[in-house]
Amino acid sequence: MNNKNEKIMPGELLLRAREYEAEHKEDYTSPVQPRFHLTGGIGWINDPNGFSLYKGEYHLFFQYYPYATHWDIMHWGHVKTRDFVRWERLPCALAPDEEYDREGCFSGSAVELQDGRHLLMYTGVTKTDDGRELQQQCLAFGDGLDYEKYDGNPVITAELLPPGGSEKHFRDPKITACDGGFRAVVGNLEHDSDGTVLLFRSEDALSWQLVGKVASSQDRLGRMWECPDLFTLDGKDVLLVSPQEMRTDDMEFIDGNTTLCLIGELKESGELIRETEHTIDYGLDFYAPQTVLTADGRRVMIAWMQYWNSVDIKPIEDLPFCCQMTLPRELRVRGGRLITNPVREIEAYRADRVAFSGVSVSGKTELPGVRGRCVDLTVNVRPSHDGVSGSFAVNIAEGADNVTTVLYDPEASTVSVDRRRSGWPDSIQNQRVFAVHDRSGEIKLRFILDKYSMELFVNDGEQAASFLIFSPEEADGVSFESGAGAVIDVEQFTLQIR
Ligand code: FRU
Repeated sequence: MNNKNEKIMPGELLLRAREYEAEHKEDYTSPVQPRFHLTGGIGWINDPNGFSLYKGEYHLFFQYYPYATHWDIMHWGHVKTRDFVRWERLPCALAPDEEYDREGCFSGSAVELQDGRHLLMYTGVTKTDDGRELQQQCLAFGDGLDYEKYDGNPVITAELLPPGGSEKHFRDPKITACDGGFRAVVGNLEHDSDGTVLLFRSEDALSWQLVGKVASSQDRLGRMWECPDLFTLDGKDVLLVSPQEMRTDDMEFIDGNTTLCLIGELKESGELIRETEHTIDYGLDFYAPQTVLTADGRRVMIAWMQYWNSVDIKPIEDLPFCCQMTLPRELRVRGGRLITNPVREIEAYRADRVAFSGVSVSGKTELPGVRGRCVDLTVNVRPSHDGVSGSFAVNIAEGADNVTTVLYDPEASTVSVDRRRSGWPDSIQNQRVFAVHDRSGEIKLRFILDKYSMELFVNDGEQAASFLIFSPEEADGVSFESGAGAVIDVEQFTLQIR
């Protein structure tokens, strides 16, 4: 495929991964899998990679270790979809079988080329003879099934770094076709302290030049910046990154690995003049998002629904897979913020509508038919008829010993999520509070539940918050609680995916 008409012969390591997948195929459809959130089927996954439209279908690759449910030497797993809800599994796409990537094929991206080939751009990790770790950007060409690494790899090396740039932390290229050529943003660590995103340009995707620095952490927003994505949406330039080692007392971000959205205007020099900055998702399990532009012009994002700090904890033993992706989300920019909502395609899977309007809640209330662990549930909350507004809670995944609580406090204008009784041990962070817009005591909460997860969308996507929950599936109750009294409208659908 370096040459368009050549047949690709998978190497030994890739064949081994593919054989292993074939031997464990029955795990893919096991009832322990989430219904519509993507896992690797088997093994370990982390970041989404290569999210791209290729020959009319959306391909997604991911950081992947097929042989065990922990991170190890990285391969690229592969799936495709037409609607972002149902995914077709494809054989493992990349294995770390070259000198320049023998320590792993790290994250990257993909584009469809004009000649019909699918181009993957990823970080090859290797070690030099004197023990230095090197991260360099590499290419692989393919047909949507088989990929062959470019014989001129690596194509972006440390030589192109600006002064102070780290050759060890130089990863996660996001390639885009533009102006008849290509551009790529890549994460880097500068002077061992500042996370940066660098912009590169190429006419042919093979030979690259540095344009400049898009943005940096400025000693404030974490250290190394991983998994950048840069696009224009609703007249603004948007940079998504995943900073490591965030330290903050601010309600906006979580400590450790978190996500950041910068919105502004991209200059010719490559610099993003930032106007606003905020977190991308206010939950505890969300990292390394990547976007694709759909055939009908939507910007759709998917992320790894997991927090690096809790990867070693397995609340349910013996699952054949570890980690999953979020439901893909449609993005918009409004009022300097990234608006994120579930892809509209999920609505085609709604069934069994149950709806109530104008229900007065005083104390704890359950509503007939409102329950489940695979549902799309929307709750509109407003002050009681006599205008009093107090804290209001939605309890989900409720059972004898379990509950996950989402509490809206109109006084403080905050939402707090508490998953201490959701199957996780106490040793990890199980609570998260974030500020929401003051809307005079009103709030709209949409929940997407799928077995082990709760994705919450506040006020039509002004904010999203993703959480893994591992309470038993029988804990499927939903209840509403208000001390001061509140009025709610509720609409629920079960999601029937398979
Ligand atoms: C982010 C990340 C990337 C890297 C990959 C390795 O989660 O650390 O920067 O490419 O994971 O699996």
